[in-house]
Amino acid sequence: MVKVVIGAQLPAEVRASWPKAWEIVEQRLTTPELEEQCRDADAVVCLLSHRIDSAFLDACQRLRVVANYAVGYNNIDLDAASTRDVKVCNTPDVLTDATADLAWTLLLSAARRVTEGQNLMRSGSWAGWQPDQLLGQRVTGANLGVIGWGRIGKAMAKRAEGFGMQVAYCSPRHDPSTDARQMPLRKLLEWADFVSIHCPLTEATKGMIDASALAVMKSTAVLINTSRGPVIDETALIDAIESRRIFAAGMDVYEHEPKVPTVLLNSPHVVLLPHLGSATFNARREMARLCGEAVRVGINGKVPDNCVNAEVFQ
Ligand code: GLV
Ligand code: GLV
Repeated sequence: MVKVVIGAQLPAEVRASWPKAWEIVEQRLTTPELEEQCRDADAVVCLLSHRIDSAFLDACQRLRVVANYAVGYNNIDLDAASTRDVKVCNTPDVLTDATADLAWTLLLSAARRVTEGQNLMRSGSWAGWQPDQLLGQRVTGANLGVIGWGRIGKAMAKRAEGFGMQVAYCSPRHDPSTDARQMPLRKLLEWADFVSIHCPLTEATKGMIDASALAVMKSTAVLINTSRGPVIDETALIDAIESRRIFAAGMDVYEHEPKVPTVLLNSPHVVLLPHLGSATFNARREMARLCGEAVRVGINGKVPDNCVNAEVFQ
């Protein structure tokens, strides 16, 4: 009998279509609990908060498929999986628009001080329209710098057309198909009014936005992060926000999730969301569908389309 462990509750209508013959464990689990359940499992659907490393895989020798319920898979030791012939799959494409939409939500909210305005309204102390009340940054016609030129970065840039923005991107690869200018990181940070991060978390991108990066940004600039928290050195960001080195930040992800420094929680210059990038009904349904498909194809000895270490099996 095939055993599949799902480390969280998936949308019911998607789960209903999974083969009845599978033994399924489906509940919210911590990484140690997940490992316990996976010792005799053929496949696991895990979350970005689950750490799947070599010790986990050694404890779960029957595992053939690790389907991450996320597009980012920095929580999985890919080399460890590859050397053990474990297929690692993610959920690309289906959450691209949802994540770009959320990055724009943060961009507009931080630029136009939406949460400060709402807090003022809810405090009951709004005394009426004032010429200098909660002035923010111009979005239309501004410069958007996109870090990471993958599916989500491009979707972010596409939306900027409607705002008449100039777009530049920073990426190790040149994209001949776009009018957006490629810039080295430092140049992009100097040039941009809005910087939005859309790269994966890797050894190369960890701490990439550090004190020296923040130091070259415009004092009117807004920094948006919907990728992974550790791409930004959070301590350096706090300094930059507190000293008004940059205008504001819009954050969906954090260095030590779910812990968020109190200074950020209390700062009026930061818009904070609880990692909601892909949190639409539609995206989550499609992500669950992709995970189910990856498990079905993967345990049958084939390589799923969304397998990120496919080269190992060819
Ligand atoms: C969410 O952060 C994802 O990587 O899908
Ligand atoms: C603002 O409400 C305006 O009418 O300019």
